[in-house]
Amino acid sequence: MELNRRTVIAGAAAAGVAATALGGTAYAAPGRGRPARTLFGRLADGTKVHSWALENGGTRMEVLSYGGIVRSLEIPDRRGRYTNVSLGFGTLEEYVASSPYFGALIGRYGNRIDKGRFTLDGTAYQLSVNDGENTLHGGAQGFDKRVWDVEPFTRGSDVGLHLYYTSVDGEMGYPGTLRTKVTYTLTRDGDWRVDYEATTDRATVVNLTSHVYWNLAGEGSGSIHDHELTVDASRYTPVDAGLIPTGELARVAATPFDFRRAKPVGRDIRTAHQQVLYGQGFDHNWVLDKGITARPEHVATLRDPSSGRTLRIATNEPGLQFYSGNFLDGTLVGTSGRVYRQGDGLCLETQHFPDSPNQPSFPSTVLRPGRTYRTTTVHSFGA
Ligand code: BGC
Repeated sequence: MELNRRTVIAGAAAAGVAATALGGTAYAAPGRGRPARTLFGRLADGTKVHSWALENGGTRMEVLSYGGIVRSLEIPDRRGRYTNVSLGFGTLEEYVASSPYFGALIGRYGNRIDKGRFTLDGTAYQLSVNDGENTLHGGAQGFDKRVWDVEPFTRGSDVGLHLYYTSVDGEMGYPGTLRTKVTYTLTRDGDWRVDYEATTDRATVVNLTSHVYWNLAGEGSGSIHDHELTVDASRYTPVDAGLIPTGELARVAATPFDFRRAKPVGRDIRTAHQQVLYGQGFDHNWVLDKGITARPEHVATLRDPSSGRTLRIATNEPGLQFYSGNFLDGTLVGTSGRVYRQGDGLCLETQHFPDSPNQPSFPSTVLRPGRTYRTTTVHSFGA
């Protein structure tokens, strides 16, 4: 695949095809160089937000210091034509005003915590509640709304960014000062690798992830219901009406949740299954068959038959939240000026399970002083 991909890109460059992103950025050939920084905007208090451009192995991405947001990610189709496959906005103001976590880093805790409450070592904690009566993606001011310190690097054949954020003790109600480092790497094969690290000075809970909305036909091009998805999971975690796991690990067999063989996302999305109704589509955590692994292992493949683009995901995490963009409601205008409607993008968030701090049978999300939280997810692209 590696050779294939390089040949396609080299071919496009040789033929003088100026690969043009939907946003209008034109560039001719894949390159690699030190990540380049430009000013993207300023927050209300004057804080500068920068945009970082990275390119390697035929993948091009733009990352904001605000929220560690992947603002665009461009990859070629089977004919070498580039497009941005990640939903986002044109301006900082739109990200700040109201973003459904487009492209953002999520912390301290990905997905929901029941009523924003949990007890750790006998102490009860109340978190910031921002999703009805529950906490979603860290609370009202999660890591997606923080300005990260960004340090670019080139290392061997890799290029990337180290992103740093320190969350103070008590922020959003979580105990402990959490020092977080996330590394985005573009490899020579054009893979996007994400390494998450965190340490704490008091026992706490952590569950970091990334919230890119994928549309492999190009953001703003319409629905992802034709995309074919494979998830290597025989079970998932059913939820209640508030999307909090019931604690059960239910079998996917003979339900709309069976993606063990490639299946179009839209095939069963209109099945009147109670769980599909609760999620208004898919919005669930799949229990990955491989479990927690020392190294990232393959867990999911997404393929757009029209462009031939594929995304393969490997992780060492035990869970995958597949969210089929159900709450996109036609009120947001994306990067290329097109309106996003329900199902115009989907998220594949590698993670520990939602509400683990309240679910003794789920793998633990507790981090203690002296230990380092470490997880890795690798996104590989092809066509
Ligand atoms: C959650 C959805 C939520 C979305 C936010 C997903 O990770 O599972 O329920 O609405 O994030 O846009």
